[in-house]
Amino acid sequence: MDILQQLQQAPKRWLVTGCAGFIGSNLLETLLKANQNVVGLDNFATGHQRNLDEVQSLVSPQQWANFNFINGDIRQLDDCHRACSGVDYVLHQAALGSVPRSINDPITTNATNISGFLNMLVAARDAGVKRVVYAASSSTYGDHPALPKVEDVIGKPLSPYAITKYVNELYADVFSRSYGFHSIGLRYFNVFGPRQDPNGAYAAVIPKWTAAMIAGEDVVINGDGETSRDFCFVANAVQANIRAALATIAHSEVFNVALGDRTTLNELFTALAQSLADNGITYNKAAQHADFRAGDVRHSQADISKARAAIGYAPQFRIRDGLALAMPWYIAQQ
Ligand SMILES: NC(=O)c1ccc[n+]([C@@H]2O[C@H](COP(=O)([O-])OP(=O)(O)OC[C@H]3O[C@@H](n4cnc5c(N)ncnc54)[C@H](O)[C@@H]3O)[C@@H](O)[C@H]2O)c1
Repeated sequence: MDILQQLQQAPKRWLVTGCAGFIGSNLLETLLKANQNVVGLDNFATGHQRNLDEVQSLVSPQQWANFNFINGDIRQLDDCHRACSGVDYVLHQAALGSVPRSINDPITTNATNISGFLNMLVAARDAGVKRVVYAASSSTYGDHPALPKVEDVIGKPLSPYAITKYVNELYADVFSRSYGFHSIGLRYFNVFGPRQDPNGAYAAVIPKWTAAMIAGEDVVINGDGETSRDFCFVANAVQANIRAALATIAHSEVFNVALGDRTTLNELFTALAQSLADNGITYNKAAQHADFRAGDVRHSQADISKARAAIGYAPQFRIRDGLALAMPWYIAQQ
């Protein structure tokens, strides 16, 4: 990435919240490999020490020495202040993901994703950081049927999680107006890749199905399988974060971060079986079907032209490229 070379000339100090999670640990790895100074904040609610250990194994001892970890909670303003001290850029990933989790426990999701987010904005503003880039979500498109999804055209939220992510955008906008403090929201669309947790009731579809297939277990598709998503390999999301942090935009903005393509769950099932076969694992079972899941949107596909024009975002990995890169990691987890 050209901008990474640019960064190496003059290293900056970054805060990655949620650094022990999936996307956060991938950001951490990329930034450390580019010789940046990184502060990480995480409370291990859904993240894991093993993700940090894996990043340590992938960077040099000197690069690892540039990492400062704070075991803290974004619901505590003091922790946020401590983490933001002396920081140039904040990449805010910490949140409770998963639509079903938010339906089962809206209070904890709200406290983390809204109060925690507000704490981070206040702390970043007080510390005078140059830019906050935060994880927004495609769930903000809610019940609006238009495809592809364009940033300005959103519907009603379909879950407590979707509300929290939309409220983040509203707060970000109001911080621009009220304090002249600008941030950029990245509406991620189904990000996947190494270190995405395959375990637990709230696992995302790609790691969950892949783990089931490797174990020779049934794969259950919610609905008829014609539900579609814009699956985005994590390296594309990492690129968008770094470009957004460095962009000169003097107001708050939101951008779609995806591939700009659509894959049905049935197609995904076939692609995963093929990718496993490429790695010498045969999965012969047919997929099982269950009811549609509450709160899920039927189709999702991003228009990525706004991010392309404003920050030069250009996804480098298509879904099959990403699966080929992620599959050895999933196999190694079994
Ligand atoms: N993965 C996706 O497809 C996707 C899609 C849209 C949006 N997002 C958003 O991207 C961000 C990262 O998601 P992910 O997939 O890496 O999830 P993840 O669960 O792997 O990572 C989230 C991290 O935040 C940490 N965290 C949670 N609550 C915290 C708290 N109170 N204080 C400090 N740390 C806390 C967790 O321990 C975890 O390490 C989240 O904001 C999520 O809502 C992800």
